[in-house]
Amino acid sequence: MTTLLEEVKDGIAVLTLHRPDKLNALDYALVDALEAALDELEADPGVRAVILTGSGDRAFSAGADIAEFAGSVEAGVERALRDFVRRGQRLTRHIEGYAKPLIAAVNGIAFGAGCEITEAAPLALASDRARFAKPEIRLGFPPPFGGTQRLPRLIGRKRALQMILTAEPIDAKQAVDIGLINRVVEHTALLSEARLLADRIARHSPAAVAACLRSVTRGLNVSIDEGLAIEAMQFASMVPTPDIRQGIEAFLSRRKSPESPEARICSYECTFCAPCVDGVLGNVCPNCGGGFAPRPIRPSKNWRGENFLGKHPASSKVKHRPVVAAAHAAFAAAIRTIPPEKR
Ligand code: COA
Repeated sequence: MTTLLEEVKDGIAVLTLHRPDKLNALDYALVDALEAALDELEADPGVRAVILTGSGDRAFSAGADIAEFAGSVEAGVERALRDFVRRGQRLTRHIEGYAKPLIAAVNGIAFGAGCEITEAAPLALASDRARFAKPEIRLGFPPPFGGTQRLPRLIGRKRALQMILTAEPIDAKQAVDIGLINRVVEHTALLSEARLLADRIARHSPAAVAACLRSVTRGLNVSIDEGLAIEAMQFASMVPTPDIRQGIEAFLSRRKSPESPEARICSYECTFCAPCVDGVLGNVCPNCGGGFAPRPIRPSKNWRGENFLGKHPASSKVKHRPVVAAAHAAFAAAIRTIPPEKR
């Protein structure tokens, strides 16, 4: 029986841990299946983002399968490390360094390895029913799938040690507060919210998304100087690509000729269109897909004093305008240093 479900739709893959009668506990076969599926999706250019969730209403995953790894522990240190610990560490390492945005959609209990997967995932949303715990100490060992290393880096040593040493669960709201997850959403909206987040990321250049993921993840575990070198390298990897040119060009052409047919001027106040520099996150803009708060179209002036549609005199924008204008001016000045034929 398959214990991992896979569905790909509109460039977004959803992987579902499917052992609901065992609270989606990860046995070796499920870990291996998950690794193989992640490999395949990573290599598939049609897939722009991956969502990982659990089957049923109760659990994301209640951790490694205790009944199974008990056998490896019985077989001695070598087998326990090879079959159990290294297998699990390989999985969380893969998730941590995944080349595409991977979102853990935590739909319930995330204990043990379920929590460690959440720690390793670049992004995580949780349903209001989710609970997170590190119960390994009750079983007589420290968290083995990266949990003693990633959690302190993520939420701080003292908070991590409280979870690791007490084994007491925390709820989704607490998980947001300590930075273990990005956001808590209503249980029934979990997957749609995860898709929305995946969509918002997937509209950017896949190469730029991968460079951001690599830069942040690789940089986290090294000194700031090494991290800056990694960042520079990731930037350098984008310089020869059409993606950077198209991105910069889109920005500049919008600003230069906002009334031109190519200009993607949005008639809404959204977070992604040109006029919406500091728009409000809310629903989805039907034009560019960004988060927006709909407002009537009204002619206005942009930061250069040119007329265009879509701007509104929102107070937050008025407040931020000098800062935004300064940022734009600096950006435009930087771009002007690149010869036009190379832009
Ligand atoms: N490994 C193997 N089986 C597990 C499991 C795990 N980590 N977690 C739950 N299950 C199984 C149970 O054995 C039970 O199976 P059964 O019905 O065949 O007996 C089923 O899932 C339901 O679990 P149950 O314990 O009856 O549910 P509950 O609501 O009473 O308790 C938990 C839920 C999560 C508190 C409890 O299952 C638990 O403590 N699980 C272990 C968590 C853990 O220590 N994870 C870290 C492992 S390193």
